[in-house]
Amino acid sequence: MLLPLLTILIISACHKKDDPVVVEKQETIAFVKPANFPEPTYRLADNPVTTDGFALGKVLFYDGLLSRDGTISCASCHIQANAFTHHGHDVSHGIDDRLGTRNSPPIQNLAWSTSFFWDGGVHDLDLQPIAPIENPVEMDDKMNNVVDKLQRNNRYQQLFEKAFGSPGINSTRMLKALSQFMVVLVSADAKYDRYIAGKESFSDAEKRGLALFEQQCASCHRPPLFTDNSFRNNGVAPRPFGTDYGRYMITLREDDKLKFKVPSLRNIALTAPYMHDGRFGSLESVLNHYDNGFYNSPTLDPAFKNGLTLSADDKQDLIAFLKTLSDKGFITDPRFAPPPGFVQGN
Ligand code: HEC
Ligand code: HEC
Repeated sequence: MLLPLLTILIISACHKKDDPVVVEKQETIAFVKPANFPEPTYRLADNPVTTDGFALGKVLFYDGLLSRDGTISCASCHIQANAFTHHGHDVSHGIDDRLGTRNSPPIQNLAWSTSFFWDGGVHDLDLQPIAPIENPVEMDDKMNNVVDKLQRNNRYQQLFEKAFGSPGINSTRMLKALSQFMVVLVSADAKYDRYIAGKESFSDAEKRGLALFEQQCASCHRPPLFTDNSFRNNGVAPRPFGTDYGRYMITLREDDKLKFKVPSLRNIALTAPYMHDGRFGSLESVLNHYDNGFYNSPTLDPAFKNGLTLSADDKQDLIAFLKTLSDKGFITDPRFAPPPGFVQGN
C-alpha cells in the first residue's frame, strides 16, 4: 500500500516551554512499503500518517517532558545512529540512572510487527509507549500527568491542533502521533536489499555467509524482515537469579518458558549488545553461542536439539553477511534525526 507523498515541515524542538513553532525546513515524507516487503500489519487506515502528525510524533519522541523529571525521552534509549537502540547498554538505563532488566530493541519496521517487547506483552503499537512512560525505571511518570504537562504548553497546543485539525490534547492523540513517527522508521535499503534487487554485488564471504544463513538461521530470522514474529527458545541460559522467563510471563504456559520474540537482524552490526538482556557484546560471541552453546531445556527449539556446528570460517562468513544488513541511509536520515538543541543525556 502506498500512501501519497506528503510534504513535511520538520519543526524544531527546543525544550523551552513557550517557544513559538519554528518551521525549520521542508522535506518530503511518506509511509512507503518497500517493494520486497509484505503488506504492513499496522492499521494505517485508522491512523494515516500526515505531515503534521509525523512532525508532532517526532517532537514527542525527542522530548524529556514525557518523563517525571524532564531528563529522559524515548530517544534516550532509542538512538538513531544505532537503529534506535541503546547501544553500549546491556539493559536499559532510565531515570535517576535506574537500570531495567531488558535490552532496548531497535525501532524499525514496526508497521510489520505483530507484537511488541521481548515477550510480546503488547499487541498494539498505539498502546506501547504507555509502558516506558509509566515504568519506574524508565520515565517514571503517569499518562494523565504527561497529558496535563502537554496541555499547559502553548507550543504543543499548536502542534496538536495542526496534527489533528482541531484543538485538544489527549492521550489517544499523543499515542497516535508517536505511532505516526515510529511507523515511518522503515529500514529496507541495506546492501542486502540492493544485492537482492540486483543493484550491488556480494563478496565471496558475504555469499557464503548468506548461504549459511539460509540453512541455519532464516527459518526464524526470515527475510525480508529477518524475523518470523514468533517466540522461540534459542538456548540462551537462564540467569541464576531473577530468571526472565520471557513469553511465559505473559501466557503462563509451561511450554512458553524461556521463549523470546525472534528479533529482526536488520542493522544488527549497529545494535550491540545482543539478546533480551544484552549478555553478548559482539556478533562473535553470539555465533559462539550458536556454535553449540545451547542451554538444554524442554522448550529449546527443535532446530537446536541436535546442536549446530559452525567452523571459524563459517562464523566469519556469517558476520560478513550480517554486516550487509546495515542501512546507512536509515541511521543518517535527517527526517528522523534529533531536533536542534536535543541533548542525548545518559
Ligand atoms: C529507559 C530506556 C527506555 C526508554 C526511555 C524508552 N524505551 Fe522503548 N524500550 C526499552 C526497552 C528496554 C524495551 C524492551 C522492553 C521489553 O521487552 O520488556 C523497549 C521497547 C520498545 C518498543 C518495542 C519494540 C519491539 O520491537 O518490540 C517500542 C516501540 C518502544 N520501546 C518505543 C518507545 C517509546 C515511544 C518511548 C517513549 C515514550 C520509549 N520507548 C522509551 C527502553 C526504553
Ligand atoms: C529457532 C529459531 C532461531 C534460529 C534458527 C536462529 N535464531 Fe537467532 N535468535 C532467536 C531468538 C528467539 C533470539 C532472541 C533470544 C533472546 O533474546 O534471548 C535470537 C537472537 C539472535 C541475535 C541477537 C539479536 C539482538 O537484537 O539482540 C542474533 C545476532 C542472532 N539471533 C543471529 C542468529 C544467527 C546468525 C543464526 C544462525 C546461525 C540464528 N540466529 C538462528 C531465534 C533463532
